Formats: sequence, structure tokens, C-alpha cells
Amino acid sequence: MQFKLQHTDPGSKARAAEMITDHGSIKTPIFMPVGTVASVKGVHQRELREEIDPDIILGNTYHLYLRPKPEILQQAGGLHAFMGWDRNILTDSGGYQVYSLSGNRKIREEGVKFKSHIDGSTHMFTPERVMEIQRIIGADIIMAFDECTPYPCDYKYAERSMHMTHRWLERCITHLEKTPLLYDYSQTFFPIVQGSTYKDLRKQSAEYIAGVGAEGNAIGGLSVGEPAEEMYGMTEVVCDILPEDKPRYLMGVGTPINLLENIALGIDMFDCVMPTRNGRNGMLFTAEGTINIKNKKWENDFSAIDEHGPTFVDKEYSKAYLRHLFVANEYLGKQIATIHNLGFYLWLVREARNHILAGDFTPWKAKMVKQMDKRL
Ligand code: GUN
Repeated sequence: MQFKLQHTDPGSKARAAEMITDHGSIKTPIFMPVGTVASVKGVHQRELREEIDPDIILGNTYHLYLRPKPEILQQAGGLHAFMGWDRNILTDSGGYQVYSLSGNRKIREEGVKFKSHIDGSTHMFTPERVMEIQRIIGADIIMAFDECTPYPCDYKYAERSMHMTHRWLERCITHLEKTPLLYDYSQTFFPIVQGSTYKDLRKQSAEYIAGVGAEGNAIGGLSVGEPAEEMYGMTEVVCDILPEDKPRYLMGVGTPINLLENIALGIDMFDCVMPTRNGRNGMLFTAEGTINIKNKKWENDFSAIDEHGPTFVDKEYSKAYLRHLFVANEYLGKQIATIHNLGFYLWLVREARNHILAGDFTPWKAKMVKQMDKRL
């Protein structure tokens, strides 16, 4: 993978860059729509490509391992072929999904034993097994197996967990070198910084991760319930240590405001279920603030969903129509809201990139944060 830094904002640490893999170019900052089980929920690949137009989407090792299972993905020729997506894919390692199964998993030095959320069957993820599964899934960017600590997390636990994540990282790297590529394109491996909300641990973890010399680096264990200011504090400490000439990926973040604040601290890549999940619940993100489309106030508002929005749904349908679809519990309501929200998120990171390139990201960000903080 190539990483070309194109411009740094004069008023912040925001950067515009380009990553190039065998599945094409990724212009950063980027938001990756979440396609957990080989589907960005409710959006066809054609709509995704033509309307939302992301250079990369995300899949989950945990979910794909349980269903359709690695054997099927291998027979299909990997996830790209299986789902008909010829652009980039990143897979998360399962470190976060397995952690979310709180009552149904046991974390040990060897790995994590867990019960399937589908049928209750028992499985074991080790760093080695997760690397093998990610080779089979065949994403362009694959993630280290880590432990995502909860919030709040006591210092001793956070410290022990961070060291285990570092030991798991060594096992991932050793095993990945022995596990051949299965398809005719390469894969790039990203390690993950942990350390909860403790600056000294974050610093230690970032130094360790930077020392590994991977082609890109990620920050995990944030957006797990801590106040936004604490998240920004951790991102800042870590970004100051991670190398400048490699992409930085902040996992599982966040709201539109979180994206802009973290871009200002030097983050290049994001993913989050918020635009898709909240969209299915009737929450719309716009440049002027958030909308709960189920609210009665939209009942006879025949204005466009988002007159400045980038996708066809924004101009073709009214707020009153979308509200009706939600009230009547029609599938189409969830689909329209998802396309709107993903279109908005991708528009936002593209605009951020344009303003970084133009040199006025900082004043633009201040204006946007103020606007987007409203509830309409
Ligand atoms: N997604 C959001 N946070 C995390 C994390 O800490 N680890 C992993 N693997 N994925 C995440």
C-alpha cells in the first residue's frame, strides 16, 4: 500500500492524503460505511457505489466467521467477489465484537472463548486464528486482534490488557508472515493502540505500536461511553506519537462533530454504525443539525429531506413522506434514511478534505461544528 501525504492544514493537524491499494485509491480523510455481514444494511452495492461513492467499506471478522463462514467465502474467491464490491474493504478483527458479548465470553492470554450470538455454540478466537480468517475473507486492510477495554476501566486492568494486546500483536505478525495470501492482491495489516483513558498508557501503547513499523496504525478503545473531551485528549496524545507518513484510523467513531474534531487532531480514517443504525431509527444527520423524522412536526413539511444533500433521496422525497414511511413502518423509510445519512457522512469528509487542500479547514470546521450541534 502506498500513502501519499498531500497537504497539512495550517491551523490544525488535519491532513489530506491518498492511500493506494490493489483495489484502488482511498482519498483521506475517509469515512468507511459499515457492512458487517457482507451488506451495508439496506443499501444495494449499486446505490452505494453511485450515490454514496465511498472508496472503502468495512466488514467484521466475527460476523463473517459465524455466517456465511470462512469456507463459503473462500469458495466464492473472497469477500469482494462474494458481495460484488470491487473497491477497497477493511475488516475489523473481532476484538471489539467479541468484547461486546460481555456475558458470553472469556478473555485469556491464549485468546477469547465466546458463544455465538446466533446459536449459542462455543468458539475460540486467538490472534493466529483471526489472521487466518482475515486471509480467507481477503480484505485489503486487516486488523490486529486486540482487547477493547470498557469505560470506565480501572488503571490496573487497562495496563494489563494493553500489554496483552501488545503480546497478541506480536503473535498476529509472526503468524501472518507464515500465512500466505489466497488471492491475487495484497493485504495491509494495521496494529491497534489501546490504553483506555489514561494518557501515560496511551503514550506507552502508541510508542510500542509505532515501533512495530506497520503500514498504517489504528486507535481503539474509544467512543465506548467516555466524554468527547476525553476521547479528543487521547487522540491528541496518540497522534503526536504515531508516524506522520502512515495513515491513522480511529475505530468506531463517531458523530459528525467527532469526525471533524478528530480530523483536526490528525486522524485520516473512521468507521461507525451511527449513520446506518441511527438512520434506521429515524435520526437524520444534516449540515444544519439532526432531525428526528418521526417527530409530529414533520407531518406536513413537504420540503426536501435535505435540499443541499448529495444523494437523489435528499431532493426527490419530502420530510412529510419520509415521516409517513417511518410511522407506517415501511422498509423504504429505513432505506431512504440510510442513504441520506451515508451520503451526508461521505459529503462531510470530502468537504473536510477540500478545505484542508484549500487551507481553510479550521474556520470551516468551527462553523460546521456550531451548525451541526443543533436539533431541528
Ligand atoms: N472498533 C471500535 N473500537 C475498537 C477497538 O478497540 N478494537 C477493535 N478491534 N475494533 C474496534
